[in-house]
Amino acid sequence: MGARGNFSSKMGFILAAAGSAVGLGNIWGFPFEVGQGGGAAFVVVYLIFCFILCYPVMVTEIAIGRKTQKNAVGAFNDLGFRKWNFVGKLGIFSGVLILSFYNVIAGWAFGYIFEMVAGNFSIADQFGEYIKNVFKVGSYGLIFMGVTAFVVSKGVSGGIERAAKLLMPTLIIMMIIIVGYAMTLPNALDGLKFYLVPDFSKLTPSVLYNAMGQAFFSLSLGMGALITYGSYVNKNDNIVSSAALITLTDVGIALLAGLMIFPLIGFMSGGTMEGAGSGPGLIFVTLPEIFGEIGGALGAITGTLFFTLLCFAALTSTVSLLEVPISYVVDELKIRRKRAAWIVATVIFIIGIPSLIGNGYSDFFSTAFTTYKDGGIDTDFLSFVGALANDTILPLGGCMIAFFAAHVWKKHNLDEELAQGAPGYKGSFVQKYLNFAIGYFAPIVLAVVFVFTVLFKFFGIQIL
Ligand code: PFF
Repeated sequence: MGARGNFSSKMGFILAAAGSAVGLGNIWGFPFEVGQGGGAAFVVVYLIFCFILCYPVMVTEIAIGRKTQKNAVGAFNDLGFRKWNFVGKLGIFSGVLILSFYNVIAGWAFGYIFEMVAGNFSIADQFGEYIKNVFKVGSYGLIFMGVTAFVVSKGVSGGIERAAKLLMPTLIIMMIIIVGYAMTLPNALDGLKFYLVPDFSKLTPSVLYNAMGQAFFSLSLGMGALITYGSYVNKNDNIVSSAALITLTDVGIALLAGLMIFPLIGFMSGGTMEGAGSGPGLIFVTLPEIFGEIGGALGAITGTLFFTLLCFAALTSTVSLLEVPISYVVDELKIRRKRAAWIVATVIFIIGIPSLIGNGYSDFFSTAFTTYKDGGIDTDFLSFVGALANDTILPLGGCMIAFFAAHVWKKHNLDEELAQGAPGYKGSFVQKYLNFAIGYFAPIVLAVVFVFTVLFKFFGIQIL
């Protein structure tokens, strides 16, 4: 145990980092992005991004964190490049933004536990009313933020690690069982086809940008979350293989979520797949259906268990989101952890209020909040902040982290850090690929995606 606390074992770190990665992004975000992105074509692009672009960025973040044992901002200072600490500050900013809306969705999911306990499967039809009831869902959100602050106030290895160890495997098993059941429903195959057989004519530029944003969001990259978690990793752990395992777990769970949702949409739509592109409400409208199909007490039990596990998955993510500003405030501003956790969580909850009330309660923050230039899509506040943080700031952060590591901190230093705990690393193919990806491929592709996304989404200028 270092002075700042360490993960108690290698498995502890992998579980905690996978806990950060696996969350609403996989189960809520991925299926609705696939639905809006036209199905399997999105999936293919997403997988490519995760493995060839995001994995190298993940390795880099963890290495910077472990080398410096510092928070997202302090890490850059510690390496001797104060000028670059704006990258960490941008990360903290996007972490705050993401947590502000993420907690709203977590609140919805939390409330669903009680709906399922009551066997209220028809909540799906009342979903629009449910999220409009801001006092109810707002209270759920408040509780969720409170639990997050509580876990973070206790420090890294206490709460985070222990919860992840038990609950992640349970969630995976439960999802596999639900997938098995969904496959037996009529028209499930139409859903599978939509999900797994690509139609590349559906690949538009915005599908590409959204897939990139979703990959960063889902893997918790680009904002220093993994620099922060990396700072708690032991020197003799193998970063290269741990990051691979985290990526595989995260991608695997997202794919499982799709296997659960799309056969179900096939069933509900009678094979037309209508409703697949309905957006952020997707899982809240489709999932109760499956528990309703199971029906009765068994349906209620499965539904309750599922949403409880989903909330735990979301909690290990909100904890990591909050940990980014907290470790900064604790290390650099010397504020006590407990105090910092409660103050920062309160501020973020307040910042999230427009996202909370922008789902029908407040006209101003709802669908007509802003109109994107691209195709004039009306967008609510929550989706706007999501696009701003996930699709633009995270890839930009990833771009700068990769560029920094390769060209400012320098590749040989990064390689030294990665070789610690990874005996066969030097001279391996993985080393060669990572050098290429971090040095050139990722910074260039991510910079291009960033510029194109901003021009396209916010200014309506389409280059590609
Ligand atoms: N990866 C989380 C999810 O998929 O739900 C969300 C997230 C957590 C994003 C932590 C960024 C982060 F730093």
